[in-house]
This record gives sequence, C-alpha cells and structure tokens, in this order.
Amino acid sequence: MDRIIVEGGRILRGDVKISGAKNAALPILVSALLADGWNTYHNVPNLQDVQSIKHLLSHLGARIETEEDTVRIDAGGLCDSEAPYDLVRKMRASVLVLGPLVARLGKARVSLPGGCAIGARPINLHLKGLSQLGASIRLEHGYVEASSDRLKGGDIYFDIPSVTGTENLMMAAVLAEGRTTLRNSAREPEIVALADVLNEMGADIHGAGNSLITINGVSSLEPAEVSIISDRIEAGTFMVASVLTRGDVTLLNCEPAHLSGVIDKLRLTGADMEIGDKTIRIKGSDEIESVDVKTLPYPGFPTDMQAQFMVLMSVAKGLSIISETIFENRFIHVSELRRMGADITVSGNSAIIRGVRMLSGAQVMATDLRASASLILAGLVAQDKTEVNRVYHLDRGYEAIEDKFERIGAAIRRIGPP
Ligand code: UD1
Repeated sequence: MDRIIVEGGRILRGDVKISGAKNAALPILVSALLADGWNTYHNVPNLQDVQSIKHLLSHLGARIETEEDTVRIDAGGLCDSEAPYDLVRKMRASVLVLGPLVARLGKARVSLPGGCAIGARPINLHLKGLSQLGASIRLEHGYVEASSDRLKGGDIYFDIPSVTGTENLMMAAVLAEGRTTLRNSAREPEIVALADVLNEMGADIHGAGNSLITINGVSSLEPAEVSIISDRIEAGTFMVASVLTRGDVTLLNCEPAHLSGVIDKLRLTGADMEIGDKTIRIKGSDEIESVDVKTLPYPGFPTDMQAQFMVLMSVAKGLSIISETIFENRFIHVSELRRMGADITVSGNSAIIRGVRMLSGAQVMATDLRASASLILAGLVAQDKTEVNRVYHLDRGYEAIEDKFERIGAAIRRIGPP
C-alpha cells in the first residue's frame, strides 16, 4: 500500500483549487438511478469513494462514461437490485442506493454496512423512514430486503438529523404517490445540492437546507446535467494547513458560505482571512490561540473537520477542549498524534489538548479518512520526517492531496509499495 512522506517545517504559500465535494457527488451519482437516459455530472472529484459508487452503479446495470471530471450515467438498463456486501463494506454511503432502488424497481437488497472505525453508525432511521413510505423491510443474512409496489408519501421524523438518511428518503419519496414530509432533516449543503439536482430532473422538493422538507411525488423523472458543488471539508483542511504553517494560502473554487463554522473558529485562533465570492485567502498568525470546539450537525462545526482542528490545537498556545457529539468513537487519531508529541487526554466525548511547542515526525497510521488527513497536517509542522501509512483512506476522500500540498510548498511525496 502507498505511503506519504512529509518533511515538516515548510511554510505554505500559493493557490489551491478545491475539488468537487465527495459527499455531494456520491448521492448525486446515485440519483441517476431514478431516471432513464444519460445524466451528465461535471466537477466530479477523482476519488476512491467515487470509483466505488460507480462500480456499484454499473453492477446494478447502469452504463457509465468518464472523461476527466465529467461523469455520464444512464440507468436505463437497471437490472439488478442487490448491493452486495463487498461493495457496501468498502463504503457505507453505498446504502444510498436503497431508496432509489425501491422507488424505481419496487425492491432492493442491500448489505447492512456494519460498524466502522468511527462508530456503530446504524441505518435504523433510513429503514424506519422507508417503512413509513410503505415499504416492507426484512433483515436477513446480513442484508436489508425492502419491497413495495409504489411507495406512498408519509410523515417522517428523524430522531437524529442523519445526512445520508435524509438523502436516501428524499430519493425514495420523489417517485412516491402523494406528499412526504421529512422533519428534523439534516441541513447540510450536500442535501441542498441533491435536492437541486432532483428538482432539475423534474422532482418537486421544497425546503431542503431547512429541517422541514416537503416532497410532492411525481410519476417519473428526466435525466439532468449538473455540476457538483465544491468540497467544504477539503477546503477546511487546506485552511487549517495554512494557519498551522503560518502560511498564506488562497483557496479557489470554494464556497465560503458553507464554511462559516470553520471560518469562525479559525478567526478565533488568530488567522487573518479575506473572503471573496468563490475564494478564501487565509494567513496564519505567529501565535495560534487555543479555541474550544464542539462538533454539531450543519451549520455547526463539522465532525469531518474535528481531527484536522485538533492538530492545530496541538500546537496552539494554551489549553482547548474539543467535544465530539456526532460519532462516539471519532478520536482514533489521538493516539497517533500523541506518538508525534501532542499532549491530548480523552475523557468521554471530549479531548483536552494542551498545546506543545513542537510535534516530532513519526511513522503513523490511521483507520479513517479525516484522521489520515490530520496526520498529514501534523507532518507539515512536525520536526523531521513523518510517514503516513494506509494512504488508502486518504484516497477515498481527497483528490491528489500530495500534489496540491506540493504545489503550495510542502515537502511531501508518495511512495508506492516496495
Ligand atoms: C455523513 C457524511 C460523513 C459525515 C456525517 C456527519 C456522507 C457520505 N457522509 O455520514 O462524512 O461525517 O454525515 O456529518 O455524506 N444515525 C443513527 N441512525 C441512522 C443514521 C444515523 O443513529 O439510521 C446516527 C449516526 O450514528 C451518527 C448521527 O446519526 O451518530 C449522524 O450520522 P449521519 O448524518 O447519518 O452520517 P452519515 O450520513 O453516515
């Protein structure tokens, strides 16, 4: 497996073009299942997770063409309704095919995703919602089997505002008979992006981005041509990198409005920012102030930025507390950061971080995507060499991350297997 080697101590300067958002691309590519004919998607990031979803869609019978960052999908030949264990195991977001398959084919058999490194992550809310739309649900042999003639609109309440749960049910409800209301829905920009695409296809969705979403079912949808929104987590990762290295980095093609929680916290650390329409210039200050952070559903501070922010706090002046309220086991990066000299104590869902003057390079490994990114960030400010193993996780969600860092001055390289 590839490794990434980072030599710390370089100041990052220059422009970084932010790619299309992974978490918007995945549900939007899946939405192709809802119509016959060629859909066209621009600004699709070249990521392992995008490959996985394309693999799953072609397994289901869709035709797929890719040219640079444009992906075209025609689900006219949709023939299989099963998402097998091997495909779902690689990426939990595969569960997003459940709603569209039931809506389109009247049945779906999708492997249960099981636990993952950052927590149990059940899909009970997806299933409860689908059954409220009239699907009958059985759990057998590790699979969810859902079936229904035509789904019927229903009134669905999410106990927790689940992102993929909201997306799954939105995609199921667009072809249902009658009106569906989703209450306490997730409000992430990726949900708005999906609703925009579905409306472009002829759906009738109102309120996406608010906790109350109303969907008037239609009998069929048409293919669409759309562009994927910019990745706010990739943007946030490069913002932290600039502040960490006391750099001066300008993000291009980003969406500042989607980053307000991150921008606010980074300002409090002393960073200086110039915010444009689709750009953010961010400069780090000599001294990084400690700031407390609590992860929350959007528009709160994103859990997907927690590990990266922890690296920043590891070298800040003083003490900070980071509370993780979304996932129960999302501190797996802590032990690796400690091996690099960070002073972090975990107590329940909080991490107490005492800033140290310097981190020291080490061989490290992480078992989830954002934790891997945090180790690269740590390597950028650590003394000497850091070797990040299991780069597989990074490639799931960051497009050409080492090239982007190298172009703004990092000493970083990828090494293939011996
Ligand atoms: C999505 C994102 C992921 C991000 C997360 C939280 C994608 C592809 N992934 O994941 O990057 O970290 O949102 O912002 O968009 N829950 C239940 N039952 C359910 C569903 C969720 O209890 O049926 C719980 C989860 O365990 C978690 C919380 O709800 O504690 C939020 O999870 P959810 O929003 O569903 O995360 P994902 O959609 O899997």
